[in-house]
Amino acid sequence: MDLSGKTALVTGAAGGIGTAIVQRLRNARARVAVADRSVRGIEAEAHLPGDLLDPAYTDGLPDAAAAELGGLDIVINNAGAITRGPVTETTDADWSLSLGVNVEAPFRICRAAIPLMAGSGGGVIVNTASCWGLRPGSNHALYCMTKAALASLTQCMGMDHAHQGIRINAVCPNEVNTPMLRSGFEKRGFEPDKALAELAESVPLGRIAEPDDIADVILFLASDAARYVCGALVEVNGGKPVS
Ligand SMILES: NC(=O)c1ccc[n+]([C@@H]2O[C@H](COP(=O)([O-])OP(=O)(O)OC[C@H]3O[C@@H](n4cnc5c(N)ncnc54)[C@H](O)[C@@H]3O)[C@@H](O)[C@H]2O)c1
Repeated sequence: MDLSGKTALVTGAAGGIGTAIVQRLRNARARVAVADRSVRGIEAEAHLPGDLLDPAYTDGLPDAAAAELGGLDIVINNAGAITRGPVTETTDADWSLSLGVNVEAPFRICRAAIPLMAGSGGGVIVNTASCWGLRPGSNHALYCMTKAALASLTQCMGMDHAHQGIRINAVCPNEVNTPMLRSGFEKRGFEPDKALAELAESVPLGRIAEPDDIADVILFLASDAARYVCGALVEVNGGKPVS
């Protein structure tokens, strides 16, 4: 995969999947701006730390990345926050966090990035949604709802902005071996390695995903190899349905 001359913004760049995306993009010779609460220690061409719940930061990210990199060809809206439980155990804080990080931030970033991309002849956006946004999963009502919103936004934007030369798609993983998944097990009192081994038995391919499994699909969607893929929700789940 050769992305020489391309510039990319990645949110959630310090997380499990984000780290793998940044490495993949840079290995493909793209120049990358990384965004996360802290981006200390991440090798990249531009560093844009901040809180995606701050509208001013989020609205300004595409411009800031373009200014640092000299343009913006690729945006990967990868940051995410997970809250657990049925709605009866969901707090106002859970609501604000989930909607803010999983829906409002990608909306703001896309709204700012699309005109930039259109003005330079086109671009690519890949959003990290989830299989849990395509079908319901138990006890994660808000997470599923926000990922469903992001999936729908992706399909609508894919349709609306294709004529500007912008391809917008989403990747929809099932369980991935990242801090998000492991910390969830820890919070519920399970030993993460043991819980992950048990989870692997429920996956037809015999293991849960590693971040690289997802990052490879994101890289494909970001590249010209996916030139006719637009408004798609690509499931990457090892054959496992949501349960
Ligand atoms: N791990 C899984 O099983 C799984 C499955 C399906 C989808 N996903 C999605 O994949 C994406 C990446 O998740 P991950 O598994 O790598 O999790 P992760 O927790 O390792 O990474 C998420 C990153 O997003 C950043 N982030 C969260 N809130 C932020 C905020 N307010 N401001 C700035 N940055 C913020 C975090 O700091 C973190 O680095 C998420 O959108 C997640 O919902 C993960």
